[in-house]
Amino acid sequence: MNSTLLLRPAIRTVATANKTLQVPTFQSRRKSTISSLMAGRDPKPTAPTIGGFLAKKPYEPPSWASHLNPIPSHTFSLGHLPTPIHKWNLPNLPEDTEVWIKRDDLSGMQLSGNKVRKLEFLMADAVANGADCIITVGGIQSNHCRATAVAARYLNLDCYLILRTSKVLVDRDPGLIGNLLVERLVGAHVELVSKEEYAKIGSVALADLLKKRLLSEGRKPYVIPVGGSNSLGTWGYIEAVREIEQQIQTGSGEIHFDDIVVACGSGGTIAGLSLGSRWSNLKAKVHAFAVCDDPGYFYNFVQGLIDGLNAGIDSHDIVNIQDAKGLGYAMNTSEELKFVKDIAEATGVVLDPVYSGKATYGMLKDMSANPEKWKGRKVLFIHTGGLLGLYDKAEQMTSMVGKWRRMEIDESIPRKDGAGKMF
Ligand SMILES: Cc1ncc(COP(=O)(O)O)c(C=O)c1O
Repeated sequence: MNSTLLLRPAIRTVATANKTLQVPTFQSRRKSTISSLMAGRDPKPTAPTIGGFLAKKPYEPPSWASHLNPIPSHTFSLGHLPTPIHKWNLPNLPEDTEVWIKRDDLSGMQLSGNKVRKLEFLMADAVANGADCIITVGGIQSNHCRATAVAARYLNLDCYLILRTSKVLVDRDPGLIGNLLVERLVGAHVELVSKEEYAKIGSVALADLLKKRLLSEGRKPYVIPVGGSNSLGTWGYIEAVREIEQQIQTGSGEIHFDDIVVACGSGGTIAGLSLGSRWSNLKAKVHAFAVCDDPGYFYNFVQGLIDGLNAGIDSHDIVNIQDAKGLGYAMNTSEELKFVKDIAEATGVVLDPVYSGKATYGMLKDMSANPEKWKGRKVLFIHTGGLLGLYDKAEQMTSMVGKWRRMEIDESIPRKDGAGKMF
């Protein structure tokens, strides 16, 4: 069977009045058959889209961020934005406290969560630099790696993921649970390293090692750091603040948020949110719940990110970082998992166990321990996604979910016409 799928995006340089832009164009390629495409011998074609999705756009920062430097020149439209904001009826809040939730978990399906916002900038830079493949790094269930793998495939780039796993699993097929399923379906190359190797060598040197190998094979790799957290990725959440401001302005009944609460895993999300909240009209206090490392580490790391934008501000002045890692990164107590289950059952919002689950758990614990601090406040919680990570916890959660039984059917009920068909 012959296919006439002949389109492939290429990068074209376009000169405008004052800038030179790199834009993807779609040009004819040699004819392929379905079987050769499926055998992976040919890059998958990517069609132009109707509407803005996947389009590369020139970037203009919000006026309150225009003094930052450098300012990115372009973004790719990857997320389904704006994400909704709605009231979140959490149980046991302090008196008159309102919690609202911004659903960044709904920023897409395969390409979901907070990472999408960073990738809009990072992928534009990769393409502008003529990359033909992306390298990034993370834990075995990294949401960032999954999002990057999908974004790369959408833009017709290959993706190499360095994934950290335990010593006993590092030489085995990593399987298809959670994020791995999506990564492997979109054809990402998975490179496993043990936690010990990762701790000894570090993510930067590991990525560099892979980069050298790919360069020697004639590839043009672009490295995205852990969590997409560098100064360029920080723009993702500067933009999210502009989005929140616009949502507040256009929403019915003006609301002012006193606080923003969010999980922190590699620091980029809180860097952008805190800068944006400080300089925009939002002026909400940003509370970060760190799910790994410790607050001191993140104050320093965020400082590096905002220094990279010449923000001239101290991270301690714009964000409050609290420890919420519990047993450790991506490890959960039964109490935390039960909490995720209870919140889902009470409100319909499914939290991930590694990030927003721990941040919400930490926030409610703090509210219960210090009700005066939160009394009467309007809080915006940012749900940063990560649903696929929940599959990794399915076994631990089995005993927490009930409500099933074999339906009782009276054998004497007569069969109706159509029995044996679907309806
Ligand atoms: C689902 C999810 N939420 C939150 C975070 C934390 O965001 P950041 O890495 O920007 O601190 C991450 C990644 O680390 C994530 O995957």
